[in-house]
Amino acid sequence: MTSTNPLATYALRDGGGVPLVLLHAFPVDHRMWAACADALPPGLRVIAVDLPGQGHSELDGRPASLESAADAVHATLVASGEGNAIVVGLSMGGYVALALAERHPGFVDGLGLIDTRSTADTDEARAKRRRIADIVESAQTVDAVLGMPATLLGSTTASGRRNLFPVVESWIRAQSPAGIAWAQRAMAARPDRTAVLERFDGPVAVVVGAEDEITTVADAEHMVHATADGALTVVPAAGHLSAVEEPQAVAAALALLHQRVTSRRDSWLTRR
Ligand code: MLT
Repeated sequence: MTSTNPLATYALRDGGGVPLVLLHAFPVDHRMWAACADALPPGLRVIAVDLPGQGHSELDGRPASLESAADAVHATLVASGEGNAIVVGLSMGGYVALALAERHPGFVDGLGLIDTRSTADTDEARAKRRRIADIVESAQTVDAVLGMPATLLGSTTASGRRNLFPVVESWIRAQSPAGIAWAQRAMAARPDRTAVLERFDGPVAVVVGAEDEITTVADAEHMVHATADGALTVVPAAGHLSAVEEPQAVAAALALLHQRVTSRRDSWLTRR
């Protein structure tokens, strides 16, 4: 029988109201959110989660799917007493956030989709992910993904913030080959979730680094056009890890999302 241990969670900021739940990118963990959480206004409650097999969260026999990741995030938060949340994901975290909004819509008051996309992989991208999964598993090292900072970080960071490269590389080195393989297979299997955005009726913040070459400004525009209540922020001088490269700009977009969710709840309560 598979166990269902909760995922590792981190209270990055204490505060009141609906929490911001932060889901990290691949192949890193909750640590990528530290600077962005620090830049949020005081009084907001912020919880970061390590996705299955990443950081300090165990795989626990969970199937390699973003649906199982979404269910694990939901079960972990509900078990710790959360009734609802603003779910924010960067890249892989965004794929999980969309799966969560699909599978547990009542739990999600607002969505933050950062440097991510709602569409599925091409056949070529899927095959590449499965090849990488096989390589890290048979080599039992994460060497195959150690070069990723070169594509995760933007050109401005490459020229002016070189100090971020060893930091991101150290986060990647800390991951397990089994976790990397699981995440690649889970991402390869994901469907197009643009229709989830079309159905979602809460506020959505779509954020993208202007220099993101993995999930582009066009991907972000595609998502925001699908929403009923979406706002787009293009972050200058940032690549795919915009929350790491330009944490203040991403925090400002998330603070605005929090305000939009709160004022919608307040007006709903006064109308009752
Ligand atoms: C990520 O940053 O999570 C990955 O680049 C996502 C992906 O490979 O699609």
